[in-house]
Amino acid sequence: EKGGYDYFMHKEIHEQPKALRDTMTSRISSENDDIVLDQIKLGKDEMEKINKVYIVACGTAYHAGLIGKFAIEKYARIPVEAEIASEFRYRNPIVDEKTLLIVLSQSGETADTLAAMRLVRERGGRVMAITNVIGSTVSREADDVMYTWAGPEIAVASTKAYTTQLACMYMIAIHLGLLKETITKEYADRIRLALLKAPEEIEYVIKQEERIKEFAYKHFKVEDMFFLGRGLDNYVAMEGSLKMKEISYIHSEAYPAGELKHGTIALVVDDTVIIALCTQEELFEKMLSNIKEVKARGAYIMAIAQEKNKSIEREADEVFYIKDTEDDVASIATVVYLQILAYYLSVARGCDVDKPRNLAKSVTVE
Ligand code: F6R
Repeated sequence: EKGGYDYFMHKEIHEQPKALRDTMTSRISSENDDIVLDQIKLGKDEMEKINKVYIVACGTAYHAGLIGKFAIEKYARIPVEAEIASEFRYRNPIVDEKTLLIVLSQSGETADTLAAMRLVRERGGRVMAITNVIGSTVSREADDVMYTWAGPEIAVASTKAYTTQLACMYMIAIHLGLLKETITKEYADRIRLALLKAPEEIEYVIKQEERIKEFAYKHFKVEDMFFLGRGLDNYVAMEGSLKMKEISYIHSEAYPAGELKHGTIALVVDDTVIIALCTQEELFEKMLSNIKEVKARGAYIMAIAQEKNKSIEREADEVFYIKDTEDDVASIATVVYLQILAYYLSVARGCDVDKPRNLAKSVTVE
């Protein structure tokens, strides 16, 4: 059932190009500019009423929500808050009939996410769900449902659910932007076409697997690791750090690179391992100067950048490239490096990759 792979996680990492294609086919295509969001009934009139969007989820799904916040604010120009479900539900959030809640849940059964949904519905808000499980509680209770066609995800650590959630968030964001006429058709086309190339970009990352494995075996004794990024890369850093802790038990932290000076750089000493995400063209120079700062303190830097930004090689000790793409959708390929890195560090350290200690696949209790 693992199809020749040692672990489900490894298999599921490799399934991502297909999972993404399945999630996008029938919704977007390169031939025409229609975006067909199957069960989503939220139309132009309803959208006119919405003045606030919350994106609520737990763990990895929350990290996808942060990227959704970025995309929806950028394209649809509506204020969006992304929040952890167990925080949102206990803080009396401002919700009324002008509120749209988007929940993300692979399993569709996470207790806190469900509670957040029920709270919003009780107060008259509208709920849109992105889930991977047909017939799950989340899918039954939401007003609008969009499925991630990732197929069953068995490994506790989420991989293909996350990347397909990202694709859904982008499709929704483009759709809302077009409804509200807050993005131009040209820009929507650019992002749509870039999104459609994401499966190939993941294939390219997967081809670098041997090098990531080597890196992992070289560094498997590391005790702490920092993931740095700016903008979208900061959100991907959070996901990379969670994956690392979860399956390799290496202590790690994700940090917005610009915040380093405000505290964390005190922890950077000789040989501290830093994973620097530099895929955002607009923020590339800023990242370079952050890398210089940590390098001056002796850090060892693995960087991820778009192929066009070769100057990264002057600063980083090891560079992994993603294919050149639109900054907005670079996260989809970037995170795959981090998944593979966490995977091989977990294997190298002799951990049970698919069933990390203390964790369950679906958290149906509070
Ligand atoms: C991490 C992971 C968890 C889940 C979280 C939400 O790899 O899998 O953080 O993302 O428990 O689960 P769902 O998406 O089922 O609501």
